[in-house]
Amino acid sequence: MDTAYHLVDPASEKPDVQTSTIQIQSLSIAPKRKSKRQLGSVIHILTHVVGFLWIAPIVTLLVLNFKNHVIGASIWCPRGKCNAQAYGDNAIATANKLDGEDHNILGALQFVAKGLEVWFMVVATSLVYDVALFLAKSNGGLPIGYLFTHLEFGDIRNLINPLLWTSPIPHGSLMPSKPSGTLKLYLFTMLAASLTILTNLMGPATAVLVLPTLQWVDTSHKPNQVFGSLAASGSPRGDTVFPGCNDTQLLTRNYSCTSEVYGPSMDNWLSQTLSSTAQAEQDYGAMLAGTSQEGTVEFTLNASRNGDLFWIPNRQVLRSLSSDLQDLASYVSGDLQANGTRSQKQPSYNNSLETVLQREGPSIGVAADCFNGTLTALTLATNKQVRCLSGWTPTSDTSGYEDSTYTKCFRYGTGWGGANQVAGFYLGDADKKADESYVQVYSSDKATAFNSTTDFGSQIQRCMEESAKDCDWDHIFETSIDPILANATTNPLVTEYGNPSYGSSTVWCDAIAYSAFPTYTLNTASSANPLSLVSLNQLPSATDKNFNTTPIAISPDWVLAAWSVANNGTVDRSREIGKELARVAPYVFEPFNETAPYPEQWEFSFIHMYTLAQSLSFISYDYSDDQASLSAAAKDKSQPVLTTWATLRVWAYGLSGRTPKLGVAVSILGCVCVLLRLILAVSLRIKHEHGVVELFVAALEHQPSQEFEDLHDEAKMAKVRYVIQDGHGRPKLVSERAYSGGLSGGLQTP
Ligand SMILES: *[C@@H]1O[C@H](CO)[C@@H](O)[C@H](O)[C@H]1NC(C)=O
Ligand SMILES: *[C@@H]1O[C@H](CO)[C@@H](O)[C@H](O)[C@H]1NC(C)=O
Ligand SMILES: *[C@@H]1O[C@H](CO)[C@@H](O)[C@H](O)[C@H]1NC(C)=O
Ligand SMILES: *[C@@H]1O[C@H](CO)[C@@H](O)[C@H](O)[C@H]1NC(C)=O
Ligand SMILES: *[C@@H]1O[C@H](CO)[C@@H](O)[C@H](O)[C@H]1NC(C)=O
Ligand SMILES: *[C@@H]1O[C@H](CO)[C@@H](O)[C@H](O)[C@H]1NC(C)=O
Ligand SMILES: *[C@@H]1O[C@H](CO)[C@@H](O)[C@H](O)[C@H]1NC(C)=O
Ligand SMILES: *[C@@H]1O[C@H](CO)[C@@H](O)[C@H](O)[C@H]1NC(C)=O
Ligand SMILES: *[C@@H]1O[C@H](CO)[C@@H](O)[C@H](O)[C@H]1NC(C)=O
Ligand SMILES: *[C@@H]1O[C@H](CO)[C@@H](O)[C@H](O)[C@H]1NC(C)=O
Repeated sequence: MDTAYHLVDPASEKPDVQTSTIQIQSLSIAPKRKSKRQLGSVIHILTHVVGFLWIAPIVTLLVLNFKNHVIGASIWCPRGKCNAQAYGDNAIATANKLDGEDHNILGALQFVAKGLEVWFMVVATSLVYDVALFLAKSNGGLPIGYLFTHLEFGDIRNLINPLLWTSPIPHGSLMPSKPSGTLKLYLFTMLAASLTILTNLMGPATAVLVLPTLQWVDTSHKPNQVFGSLAASGSPRGDTVFPGCNDTQLLTRNYSCTSEVYGPSMDNWLSQTLSSTAQAEQDYGAMLAGTSQEGTVEFTLNASRNGDLFWIPNRQVLRSLSSDLQDLASYVSGDLQANGTRSQKQPSYNNSLETVLQREGPSIGVAADCFNGTLTALTLATNKQVRCLSGWTPTSDTSGYEDSTYTKCFRYGTGWGGANQVAGFYLGDADKKADESYVQVYSSDKATAFNSTTDFGSQIQRCMEESAKDCDWDHIFETSIDPILANATTNPLVTEYGNPSYGSSTVWCDAIAYSAFPTYTLNTASSANPLSLVSLNQLPSATDKNFNTTPIAISPDWVLAAWSVANNGTVDRSREIGKELARVAPYVFEPFNETAPYPEQWEFSFIHMYTLAQSLSFISYDYSDDQASLSAAAKDKSQPVLTTWATLRVWAYGLSGRTPKLGVAVSILGCVCVLLRLILAVSLRIKHEHGVVELFVAALEHQPSQEFEDLHDEAKMAKVRYVIQDGHGRPKLVSERAYSGGLSGGLQTP
């Protein structure tokens, strides 16, 4: 600290320039002044207390904002109970009423913000005045340009007031005795200028901190399940996979038991989608994805194709989400106490304007497409087959290979060592299977591809053409091919649609499936989401940590379950799906005319796509949800931990965005000013203030001694410095020149 800043009591240390008559007068009225002075310092202390108290609401607001304090469905929620019931029958009327009340309270909070601003203004004015008077009492004196700074600094024009910036520069003959005086005065200039900026920013800053905003706030993510594995590669097992099916029935690979619940579900999903094709043909129409129901929610496949993949929600996850929704409903109606996704510390669903339930869960993303071509089946041994289908075009939009067609060969049979399975069924009449269209679904572990110019060195071309006996088929399937084609050669699920009258010409579809853990999101507000449609958020991309880039194997039995048919059974034409397949089948095998394709040809691709989606949505998974495995998995991270949470629409404080940060900075600087005033008062022993009127009277009483001679412009006058002397309770102005002259007068000849 600058030791030059010490309080000087001019009355005791400086030579007295007062006349003796005034001394006598002042003696006689001394006791009265003393009590006045005491009153003055009591008031002075009070201004400090009031100024200091400003910090309390500001710190409270800062804490609320830093902790992202959540209020609730309305701004006025005393003891956590808002006057809100966002779930009632009368949701819109309630929302309207809440909006009115919120508007009211926001208005009131504006007044609070203004109050805080005015309060700070008081502190800042006192600070400027305190410092100005301190300077005036110290040796260097105060330029008269600064006498009214404490009244002017709140006005932004103060910044461009030349007097503020030039007053400390001494004017020629008025050279002050000490150069440090000028430095001190410039510190004062800086203080006044920064307080001008600060006080002008204080209003919006406090408003930003005081006013809560309507936000989406996540409750804490609650670990819910430790993911085990997807039962994709095996046949459906267990009593709970499909309602209406028990394990004994599933063992026979007869999936007609699924028809009770999922037969109508499949038919409905498909006919809803196909009916949309008629809408799409209208000028104003478009093709919309059909929805399917599971429990209390609906879902659809996510066609926002992310890296060529369709993501299909998993019905087991949807069942969990359904029970989350039921929990929420019973919680809100008062039947169930805090359980489910709600954590005790969070605001209750009751206090939220809108609630979005979120749940992480497995989902299957599939790249699927259909092609026409011919089938060549090579039987190498009784249990070793190679099936080659021509007409394959890589699906990827980015491959640049859309124009080349390849032949895709996959291996099938138990002799290959890998897990290869097949399932099939017929369409129509069980007694005339030989004449009917059929569907064969192969799950193969490995495929390869070639075209007319290259087989990527696998020799498969030669082996196909010459039926060579010396072919090393294991080598053929191990040879790596073009990387862009390569990820469609692991674990393909190939569906062949055939009809005896079209011979080896077939329509075939392949599917490459990946698994990942997107977030299932359900907006529970019936006004925003009347169909309870679940959407998949954050679709996984190939770069995600939890995204396994190796395609997973899918058992063809899941496809049988989607058609509700036994292996080698028949799908009756009386069912919607049988009827639709029978309707489009004759066109599907006709040559594809690019300029005028039959509508049935693309309707067929919907039939395939939606039955595939139904199959993949069934795939169950196992998990553990006991506390021990949850905490163990959280520690060793060997298995994904699936969490649940809710996102609530509530009024809350927070610091997201730039303006709140500015508000925080400004209010922290405000607190610094308050503390600065206190520290200055204590360290400089500022006990009380002279009033402005007292100063004015002192100025009137002052007899100028040529200070203003030859001074004609304001800027120069403003530079003239005065020292305030405490003349027995009343301030007295002494020109700085006279003061320092008088000071040194004892030593030098005047
Ligand atoms: C499975 O369901 C079938 C048909 O409903 C029934 O006959 C059979 O007893 C059930 N098996 C078990 C183990 O419940
Ligand atoms: C939520 O509000 C409903 C209706 O006002 C009430 O019956 C229920 O008890 C509340 N639930 C809780 C947990 O406060
Ligand atoms: C809440 O959850 C705990 C543990 O998950 C369970 O034991 C309890 O029965 C649940 N309470 C209610 C009212 O459902
Ligand atoms: C065969 O495939 C290769 C590599 O993918 C490609 O460069 C070539 O153009 C294709 N040939 C034909 C005739 O499409
Ligand atoms: C398929 O392979 C290509 C090339 O290796 C790669 O860029 C792409 O991400 C893969 N697709 C998927 C879905 O993994
Ligand atoms: C599909 O995925 C996108 C991207 O994640 C998401 O925004 C959208 O809500 C999803 N739609 C459905 C119906 O799941
Ligand atoms: C499928 O059914 C046909 C005709 O009924 C029969 O010839 C064939 O052996 C059956 N195949 C299987 C794998 O059961
Ligand atoms: C499958 O089960 C249903 C009902 O139990 C039965 O009617 C049907 O004949 C079975 N199908 C086959 C192919 O076994
Ligand atoms: C398959 O489609 C191509 C065009 O995509 C067409 O040229 C060819 O004739 C079709 N073959 C059959 C058997 O339909
Ligand atoms: C495709 O359809 C158009 C319009 O019907 C017809 O003129 C053309 O001959 C057809 N092309 C083939 C290859 O059938």
